Amino acid sequence: MGEVTDATKVRLDLNDGHKIPALGLGTVPSGDPSGVKDQVKTAINAGFRMIDTAWYYGTEKYVGEALKELFDEGVVKREDVFITTKVWPSYYHSPEKSLDESLQTLGLDYVDLLLQHWPIALSGDENGQPPAPKDNEGNLKYDDDPVNGTKFIEVYQNLEKILDNTTKTKSIGISNYSISRLNKLLPHVKHIPVINQIEYHPQLSKQRDLIELCEKNKIVVACYSGYGSEGAAVLKLPKIQELAKKYNVSTNEIANAYQILEGRVIIPRSSNLERIKSITGLPQLTKQELNELNQIGEENPKRYINDPWGYGIGFKGWEGDKLSEPL
Ligand SMILES: NC(=O)c1ccc[n+]([C@@H]2O[C@H](COP(=O)([O-])OP(=O)(O)OC[C@H]3O[C@@H](n4cnc5c(N)ncnc54)[C@H](OP(=O)(O)O)[C@@H]3O)[C@@H](O)[C@H]2O)c1
Repeated sequence: MGEVTDATKVRLDLNDGHKIPALGLGTVPSGDPSGVKDQVKTAINAGFRMIDTAWYYGTEKYVGEALKELFDEGVVKREDVFITTKVWPSYYHSPEKSLDESLQTLGLDYVDLLLQHWPIALSGDENGQPPAPKDNEGNLKYDDDPVNGTKFIEVYQNLEKILDNTTKTKSIGISNYSISRLNKLLPHVKHIPVINQIEYHPQLSKQRDLIELCEKNKIVVACYSGYGSEGAAVLKLPKIQELAKKYNVSTNEIANAYQILEGRVIIPRSSNLERIKSITGLPQLTKQELNELNQIGEENPKRYINDPWGYGIGFKGWEGDKLSEPL
């Protein structure tokens, strides 16, 4: 049996001097969004110190209720927890208004990290509605060319203004940036994004080139869908099961360790409160075991999130996107 330490204690350095906990709780709702309140309370009581939410998820209200109770009960103080929220692409024209709305719903004066959720511009009204605007044929309605447009750069620059001119966020970053989008953005930034939040897990190791580009630019990669999202197919992979047995930990903890031991953030979600309490161990996988996990993506590559707003961004293996190269 190998050594297991505590994942909730690991902090990663951001390029602006702040630190981010490597393990956070995701808050996409599974079923009733109000369940997120107990999930957040359970996670913080179990030692988690980071919560990943977004305007789009519709769960900020429940994150806020949980935090208020945790603060009132003296479990944690505001400065002990790291809260991330995001600006959805239908609200791209007014990121500060989107953040104000998020802060009000969360009941907070500031977030620790504000992310641009996707590098695209969807046709939302002044309140960002509807979040997924469609034309008569059912295609997404954009305010910019979804493949070659550059409005996404201005959106990030508006996040920079929020960072420079207000105290509403401590750090800014990006999400769902491919290699091509990142290369287009970087020459125009004043502040390098601290984070790029993308799908990543052993089955996506062919996306290593994007991870390396982020690392080269001191952008920490935050991994979503690290278990394979709904159904958690990544956790059923034989190598992950074998390592879980060897270290006497859950398969979740192997999937978390794959990211954390290489300096990446992971933000799993669960509607199962007992599970949330039992995924904080950090098995000390060897270099060889990490390489074996990477090998899974060579033999059995798979992307689990294939939303239509990801079409044309330049990710490999994006199902339904005619321009996407295979994995
Ligand atoms: N930036 C973005 O565009 C973006 C996109 C997607 C997600 N995210 C963020 O990343 C977070 C996590 O990603 P995700 O929501 O795709 O999901 P995920 O964390 O990869 O997987 C969650 C799913 O795995 C199940 N699960 C976990 N452990 C399990 C186990 N041991 N056995 C069986 N099932 C298990 C959970 O079911 P139970 O509920 O039963 O535990 C849940 O359905 C989100 O909540 C969100 O915060 C961001």
